[in-house]
Order: sequence, then C-alpha cells, then structure tokens
Amino acid sequence: MKELLTLSRRSLLASAGSATLLPSLNHFESSSKRNTFRVVHMTDLHIQPELGAADGVSLCVKKILELNPRPDFILTGGDHVMDLLNVSGARADLQFSLLDERLKPLEMPIYHCVGNHDVYGWAPNSSVSEREPGYGKALFEEKVRDSKTYYSFDHKGWHFIVLDTIGVRGRQWMGHVDDDQLQWLKSDLAATPTDRPIVVTLHMPIITSILQETESTTTTPTDLTVTGNGKQVFDLLRTRMVKLVMQGHTHVVESVEYLGTRFMTAGAVSGDWWKGWRLGVHPEGFTTLDFDGASVKTTYVPYGWKTHR
Ligand SMILES: [Fe+2]
Repeated sequence: MKELLTLSRRSLLASAGSATLLPSLNHFESSSKRNTFRVVHMTDLHIQPELGAADGVSLCVKKILELNPRPDFILTGGDHVMDLLNVSGARADLQFSLLDERLKPLEMPIYHCVGNHDVYGWAPNSSVSEREPGYGKALFEEKVRDSKTYYSFDHKGWHFIVLDTIGVRGRQWMGHVDDDQLQWLKSDLAATPTDRPIVVTLHMPIITSILQETESTTTTPTDLTVTGNGKQVFDLLRTRMVKLVMQGHTHVVESVEYLGTRFMTAGAVSGDWWKGWRLGVHPEGFTTLDFDGASVKTTYVPYGWKTHR
C-alpha cells in the first residue's frame, strides 16, 4: 500500500505539472481542461472481517470505477479500519491487509486522512504498550501514509489541504490540531495565492449542527465529536478562499455554510458501522466533488449496500 501510494502521488504530481505545459492548446481549451475535473471523497470505511465490510468496500470501489467521468484521485476522510484503539497487533494488521487488498483495484492516487479509529492504542483501557512498534499514529504512517499525516498539494488550479485532527490526552484520543500543525497550516496558507480556491479534508468536524438534531439544540459538543480547537483552524482557513471542508466522524450527510465556506460531513462508506443506515436515514455511500472553474459541486452517492444480518 505504501509503495503504491508513493508511486501514485508521484504520478499525480507529474500529471498535474504536465497539464500546465501543453503548448498546443489555446487559452480557453487549456483553462477548461485544467479546471473541469472530478474527485471522490470516501470516509469512515471501518473495514473489518465481520458483517461483510470488506465486500462492502469492494462494492463501493466498483461503483467508483463505474463513474463517468472517472475521478482524477480519491480523498479519504479517516477511520479506514474498524478500530485500532484497543486491539492486538495481529488484529490491527488484519484490518490494514483488508484495506490494502480492497482498495487496490482503484489504481488511482489516494490521499489519506487519519481518523480517530486509525490510531493504535489511544484508549484508556488499551493493553497496547506505548513502547510497542506502531503505537499511536506510527502504524497508520507505516501502512498507509509515507510521510506526515498533514500535507497539501495542488491540482488543476485548486489547492488541497489534508489535516490531522486527532490529538491525545493521556491515553484518550480527542479532536485537536497541535501547534506544529497550526504553524504549518499558517505557512501553507500564506504561500497560497488569495485567488486560488481551496478544499480541506479532515476527520473530526470543525463546524457541525449534528448534536442539535441527535441530542438537543443546547447540547454542547465535546472534543470527542468535534475538533476542540476547530475555531483556531477556521480562523486560519478564512484568511484564504476555502470553498469546501470535507469532514467525517459522525457518519451523517450534512452541509453547513458559513462565511463562504461549506462544511460538508460526508456520510460513511460503512453507514452505521455496517449495521444499516446511520440514524436510519443516511445510507452507505461516498461523495463526488465536481470542479468547474472556481466552483465545486458535491453529490452524495449511495452505492447500494445491503446490510448483512
Ligand atoms: Fe467513523
């Protein structure tokens, strides 16, 4: 997986670079080729051997491959595996093997974003030692990412930022963006032209109204539901033209627009963790992002999974 993704990222960067160098196209043609494209966002796969989850991911992949136009690349939104928080090393490896096997047919660049269930041993009751290889995000970095869990890249006139919203308090994960990453984000945005549209991908929402629907309108979200210092993140993001923030974690399909930025929580490939539709109304699915000039349209696509009973 690591080698495939490394290769794929290089291929993507190479193709993005060559698109700006086509000398035979006039301005209109090159603009239209550069700025009209599709991306797929898939989040909260929670792959595991049980409940047919691996076959569900394969069905999702099949639907993505049938899309016309095909996506240029995939963004993931975290929680690739069912859970690494309190499992053995063998169980963790099994989940990553399934993920590698079932995503391989995509054969396109995949830009991964870490979720809270992708970290190894960050739970108060976990028996995983802090000295064990792979502890925390190390296993995710070894199996899925080949560099930091936050990064950015450009594609056809857009800037894409992938953030790591998973922090830890003692042995308990929480939604948090650390100071080093905030500094990096500030620099990355400063280096991004003010007229370049931006898409951000992260796992723990920074703006969501979900608890007002599932709990009560006065329920205060905790950093187990949202990114605790999400305001700090948004204060930086709003210095540039951030059109869309793709969020995960709550498994619901939701869109909130504020100050010109749309915060979409993008359902889940696993629905209600492979036990049906989330809250009975959000089916298993993924999202297409269709870019046209400086605008982007999102469509949630249920892929037709039938829950195993
Ligand atoms: Fe999840």
